[in-house]
Amino acid sequence: MKVLIVGSGGREHAIAWSVAKSPKVDKIYCAPGNAGISEYAECVSIGAMEFEKLADFAEEKAIDLTIIGMDDPLVGGVVDVFEARGLKVFGPRKNAAILEGSKAFSKDLMKKYNIPTAAYENFDDPEKALEYLRTKAKFPIVLKADGLALGKGVLICNTLGEAEEGVKEIMEDKKFGSAGNTMVIEEFMTGREVSVLSYVDGKTIKTMTSAQDHKRAMDGDKGLNTGGMGTFSPSPFYTEEVDAFCQKYIYQPTVDAMAAEGRPFVGIIFFGLMLTQDGPKVLEYNARFGDPEAQVVLPRMKNDIIEVMEACINGTLDQVDLQFEDNAAVCVVLASEGYPVKYEKGIPMYGFENFKDKEGYYCFHAGTKFQDGQIVTNGGRVLGITAKGSDLKEARKKAYEATEWITFANKYMRHDIGKAIDEA
Ligand code: AMP
Ligand code: GLY
Repeated sequence: MKVLIVGSGGREHAIAWSVAKSPKVDKIYCAPGNAGISEYAECVSIGAMEFEKLADFAEEKAIDLTIIGMDDPLVGGVVDVFEARGLKVFGPRKNAAILEGSKAFSKDLMKKYNIPTAAYENFDDPEKALEYLRTKAKFPIVLKADGLALGKGVLICNTLGEAEEGVKEIMEDKKFGSAGNTMVIEEFMTGREVSVLSYVDGKTIKTMTSAQDHKRAMDGDKGLNTGGMGTFSPSPFYTEEVDAFCQKYIYQPTVDAMAAEGRPFVGIIFFGLMLTQDGPKVLEYNARFGDPEAQVVLPRMKNDIIEVMEACINGTLDQVDLQFEDNAAVCVVLASEGYPVKYEKGIPMYGFENFKDKEGYYCFHAGTKFQDGQIVTNGGRVLGITAKGSDLKEARKKAYEATEWITFANKYMRHDIGKAIDEA
């Protein structure tokens, strides 16, 4: 088979690594890819939002399967473009990717189908939002831009003043562009956050092993929200009891709800869960693998990823026995100092050879490129250093050990990835 992967981050590197292990695959392309991905795939310089060009390329190279890693092209309808041209593609169509693309849609869906989530109201008029905040709101309260905002469209406001400022930023100043035309105002929840990714074929859902992300930039969960500074898998807080609850009240009901709405979901559903005192509730849905969740989940998956994805497309996921290794993985993101605000790029990096032939260690590239034959930084999140261990503590020790193998001038990382493990 020839496979095309669309995306350029650490998640796509983990997908490419996984695809490369499949005995079914002879050749991998990635658009646009990065320096690390080029170890497994021929990178082609087509942007993830250039749907017709991607489809032209898939046709020209007789690609057997295209895997869409990123949210933007999915929400924008890349799958529909491929399907209209008879090209096989893994990911939800536009009418299903809305599960991630519109928070107002996903909240209404959960309300309609009794899927546990925070109480909320949707607003498309800033005056009405302000009136609600002034008369009915309890603080802290959460404001969310409806659309995609690089994971930054969520504001947790402790006071009315902050919330008023938030409405201005999202709905009037359009800090997140048209993503802020509609806004969700939502009850603030407390508890442990867990990410559960799943494969879905339109009717059947198979969940993967759990993971936890660290979204804030600095140790102790301080600083700004980022795309994710590190992950570990499994989550010790995701017990069998929690899983049983979610299977019954969240996972299958979500898949059934989408089918009932005439929006059958095929692809990955990523459930962002909050384990509250009143039980697990949905924080958000994503329509793709998490980044950097994929970097701890995929190295632990035993199945051939191509077989699982084909089963999703063919509607035969019920016949797949999805299995994960009985171990653990930790991923520490090496970022550019200053991320997520302002940082330098193009800085030379050293030490990649240290990962050669090291079983259970992975150096997933997120923002890198080749420049004059040398690998240089090319983004805020630069690498995801993953290690597997027999348990979480061992995996964490190894992952931090391996972070020392790579050097670059403005290297930055959190030192407390997986700290919650000690509290479990
Ligand atoms: P989201 O993009 O919806 O996952 O939100 C980003 C982050 O904001 C989440 O990972 C949570 O840490 C936080 N968050 C979102 N919604 C809530 C909520 N209702 N209560 C508390 N924290 C929230
Ligand atoms: N790591 C969170 C996300 O991928 O949305």
